[in-house]
Amino acid sequence: MNIILLGPPGAGKGTQAVRLSELYSIPHISTGDIFRENLKQGTELGVKAKEYMDKGLLVPDQVVIDIVADRLSREDCDGGFILDGFPRTIAQADALGDVLAARGLALDHVLNFSVPDEVLVRRISGRRTCSRCDRNYHVEFDPPEVEGRCDSCGGELYQRDDDKEEAVRRRLEEYREKTEPLIQYYQERGLLVDIDGDRPMEEVMASIRRVLG
Ligand code: AP5
Repeated sequence: MNIILLGPPGAGKGTQAVRLSELYSIPHISTGDIFRENLKQGTELGVKAKEYMDKGLLVPDQVVIDIVADRLSREDCDGGFILDGFPRTIAQADALGDVLAARGLALDHVLNFSVPDEVLVRRISGRRTCSRCDRNYHVEFDPPEVEGRCDSCGGELYQRDDDKEEAVRRRLEEYREKTEPLIQYYQERGLLVDIDGDRPMEEVMASIRRVLG
């Protein structure tokens, strides 16, 4: 099963992708996570991506396309994959189409999460991430058992730099301008399925499972 999770920042793509990846035993490929992991390791890519991420801007297309093309060529993607946060521009979507076609693959579904802006802002401002294993929490909707500590590994929780107010505003603008056109793009290809993301996590998961079977 080859799936894209599309939607604005804070819509719940990452949250659902982690669960879907376990359920269907296919890799969860998050371009944001790849950049954050590179930053943690101090690679050139991580440092370069941070310049854009902290301002709430998209990383240049060619950088992202090369990373995803490389990731999709790995064996663990042969049985399917979940793309979270990619593509985010028409150029990225075209490039993905070419990469998949060259390997005789096609997309099965593009799940488009819709959530009102005020809910997105509330979700993003309350998000906390584990500094060790990257698991996400929410101070109100999905709190850890011990405040500030990850339930899975005990790592310290932190707030992402790009979850601060100014960067969030810019991320939403980037989404409207550059990513939202992908809704029509995938609608025209008969792949788009709308998911109401403004519901409890379990209900969102149930509606995704009804689509995926
Ligand atoms: P990325 O890491 O992809 O961030 P994003 O798309 O902005 O998405 P988020 O991670 O903010 O939100 P999400 O939808 O995954 O929500 P989550 O599940 O965490 O990208 C970061 C940056 O990297 C970009 O700005 C850009 O600079 C760069 N980048 C990445 N990909 C790129 C690309 N393709 N091209 C160019 N640049 C790229 O949920 C949010 C919170 O809400 C959590 O706390 C969660 O616990 C909570 N929550 C989730 N679901 C629910 C629910 N149903 N009810 C209540 N709370 C919920």
